Amino acid sequence: MTKQIQFFDTTLRDGEQTIGVNFNVEQKNAIAKQLENWGVDVIEAGFPVASKEDFDAVQAVARAVKKVRVTGLARARKGDIDACVKATADAAHKQIHVFIATSPIHRDSKLHMTKAQAIDSITEHVTYAHKFFDIVEFSPEDATRTEPDFLVDSIQAAIDAGATVINIPDTVGYTNPVEFAALFKNLRENIPAFDDITFSVHCHDDLGMAVANSLASIENGATRIEGTINGIGERAGNAALEEVAVAMYVRKDYYDAENNINMKETKKTSDMISDYAKMPVPHNKAVVGANAFAHESGIHQDGMLKNPQTYEILTPESVGAAKTSLPLGKLSGSHAVMDKLNEMGFSVDREAMKAIFPVFKDCADHTDIVSEEDLTRIMSQIHATNEV
Ligand code: KIV
Ligand code: ZN
Repeated sequence: MTKQIQFFDTTLRDGEQTIGVNFNVEQKNAIAKQLENWGVDVIEAGFPVASKEDFDAVQAVARAVKKVRVTGLARARKGDIDACVKATADAAHKQIHVFIATSPIHRDSKLHMTKAQAIDSITEHVTYAHKFFDIVEFSPEDATRTEPDFLVDSIQAAIDAGATVINIPDTVGYTNPVEFAALFKNLRENIPAFDDITFSVHCHDDLGMAVANSLASIENGATRIEGTINGIGERAGNAALEEVAVAMYVRKDYYDAENNINMKETKKTSDMISDYAKMPVPHNKAVVGANAFAHESGIHQDGMLKNPQTYEILTPESVGAAKTSLPLGKLSGSHAVMDKLNEMGFSVDREAMKAIFPVFKDCADHTDIVSEEDLTRIMSQIHATNEV
């Protein structure tokens, strides 16, 4: 049966944890509205207890969006939960996201808690949060480095206390797709209510596997994916949601899963985050990079001109990007140069290209990209030679 996958965007919370990124309230509002247009299901708008600015921003986003569910983040502390209650009070749809670390390194070195104390805290704080929210999401932070048995116990405690969404954070981006499958197998076998719970994943990109891990999780029982636009976030960042969405779109044959994402709004959403975060998108980045739909080598350009599907598995139009480009350089072939000249209004055939192409090659050897001005100059040169 085709699964429905929810997109949970944490650009405004985990994404803002990127060094040097500070969105103001107006920008957060504009981002939230664009995320709504893009089609996400949940927006994590901030960590209300962290500061007045964060509280105000969560409150503003909760008031600004109407279709999307809004959440704030809370540690397992009553004060954090109270702040989330107040900040999301005006939201049309809301939930809360409560977390506590469960891995041995976090329990021992950071929280100084025994396993039993961690379980008690989960029970107490999820129960408390559930008094105010119908939907309580619980995250065992550093889940992927937590002992498998204790992960089950922590999750079971959260479910018994009223959590209906369980998020599995790969907090330090440590796990790989095969291990994610094993983790889900263990949960499926040991959590009796597995099929009644929304399982979510929250993958960091320290080893460059955040998107692959998110997609592996979809195959193994997750129906909610958390991430950020352009993959911004702590250290190496979070799963890039636009990449997850496009992988599901292009490989629908494989994932057999639906989502509410409006693909045509993808590039616009990415551009907005890049602009507000003052973080240029790498040219070679999947889906939204400047070179994602550019082809330079002669063999590729020839293939593209014969049938774009030879080298493009996705059209730029489908994600709202500018059309495919075939920049002319030293690796370009005669076919692409002839095509460009005809597009510019010259009337050129294969016979004429025998004289033009060597002049083009000479020019290309001395520059990175041969521009329209360069081509016009080449054509004047050819005409002048022919008139002599
Ligand atoms: O990476 C993480 O573990 C988090 C949690 C708060 C979900 O961001
Ligand atoms: Zn995170």
